[in-house]
Amino acid sequence: MADFPDASARYDADRNYAWNYAHPPHPVAIDEPAVPGDWTFCGLKAASPLGMPAGPLLNGDWILYYASLGFDVLTYKTVRSGFRECYPLPNLVPVQTGPLHGGELELPVAANMPGSWAVSFGMPSQNPDVWQADIERTRRDLSADKLLNVSVVGTVQPDWSIDDLANDYAQCAKWAVDSGADTVEVNYSCPNVSTCDGQLYQQPADARLVTQAVRDAIGSTPLIVKVGHVTEEAEATALLDALQPATAIAMTNSVAATIRAADGTLLFDGQKRGICGAATFEASLAQTKLFDRLIRERGSGPKLIGVGGASTAEHVRAYLDAGAECVNIATAAMVDPTVALKIRAELAE
Ligand SMILES: Cc1cc2nc3c(=O)[nH]c(=O)nc-3n(C[C@H](O)[C@H](O)[C@H](O)COP(=O)(O)O)c2cc1C
Repeated sequence: MADFPDASARYDADRNYAWNYAHPPHPVAIDEPAVPGDWTFCGLKAASPLGMPAGPLLNGDWILYYASLGFDVLTYKTVRSGFRECYPLPNLVPVQTGPLHGGELELPVAANMPGSWAVSFGMPSQNPDVWQADIERTRRDLSADKLLNVSVVGTVQPDWSIDDLANDYAQCAKWAVDSGADTVEVNYSCPNVSTCDGQLYQQPADARLVTQAVRDAIGSTPLIVKVGHVTEEAEATALLDALQPATAIAMTNSVAATIRAADGTLLFDGQKRGICGAATFEASLAQTKLFDRLIRERGSGPKLIGVGGASTAEHVRAYLDAGAECVNIATAAMVDPTVALKIRAELAE
C-alpha cells in the first residue's frame, strides 16, 4: 500500500467554529492514485466518484486542503443571504450507537469517537460579500479537473411567505453561480434549525416552488437538492415529483436524535440533532436504493448522490451499485483526512 502524507491537520472539535474557520490547514503535495473509470457529477466530468458534502469545508482554504487529499468534488459549506453565528460548543458530540434507521429517540454520549457524532452548528454563514469573494478565489485556485459545488440555504424571516423564502434561496444560488460555482446545492434538510426552512424536504408543495425558483435563477447550472431521511415510498414519490427541476438529489443529510450526557442530562436543551457518520450508512444506502428503484420505474429522473457513513472503498462501491453517481464523505474525512487517498488506492487495484 502507498505511503500517505502526514495529514494530521484536521477540524479541531474542541475549538469553536470561528477558530477553525481562521486556522485552515495547508494543501499537501501528493500524487493522487488515479481511479479507473468514467466518472461524472451532475453529468459534469469528474476524475473520481469521491466528493465531500456541505459542512467540513468551511472556506476556500479548507477546500484546497481536501482537494489536495484526493477529493474531486468539493462542496463549499452551506451559506446564507446574511451573516449567521455558529451555535456554541459543543458542535460535535460522539455518540454510542449501532446502525440508525430513524425510530431512535435518544442516544448516549460516547467517551471517544466510535464513528458517529451529533452535529450542532446551526448552519453559520459569513456575509454574502465575504463568501462570494472567497468562492471566486477558490474556483481560481482549484485545479480545473476538480468541481466546486456550493451549498446554500434560505433563511426564514418573521412573516415571510414561501415565495419570500424561495426568492432567498434563489438569490443565494445565483450569487454562488456568479461567483464561479460549477454546481449549486440547496439544503432542504437541517434538523438543527427549528424553522420551516429546516424541513423543506418534508413539504413537497413548498419544495416544488423553491426548486423552480432556484432553477429559474441559475438557468442551466446543475442543481442538487440535499434531503433528509426518507423511508416511505409515498414520500419519496412526492419528492421526486416536486424536485423535477433538480439535476440531482443528495441523500441522506443525517438521522435525528436527542443526546443524553453521562451525567443523565439531555444535551442541546433536549432538542434533536443530526447524527452523522457510520451509524447512518445503512439508512442512507437503503434510501438511495429506494429512490433509484422509483427513478428506474419512471424511466428517467435526477441523478443520486450518496451521503452518509461512507469511509471505505467497499462503502463507495455499495453506493455506486445502489445507483449513486458520486459518493460524498464528511465524518470519515474529518476523522482521517487521508481517507480519500486510501479509498483511491483500493479502487485503483
Ligand atoms: C461538521 C459537519 C457540518 C455539517 N454542516 C452541514 C451544512 O452546513 N449543510 C448541510 O447540508 N449538511 C451539513 N452536514 C451534513 C453533511 O453534509 C452530511 O450530510 C453528513 O455529515 C453525512 O455524511 P457523513 O456520514 O459522511 O458525515 C454537516 C456535517 C458535519 C459532520
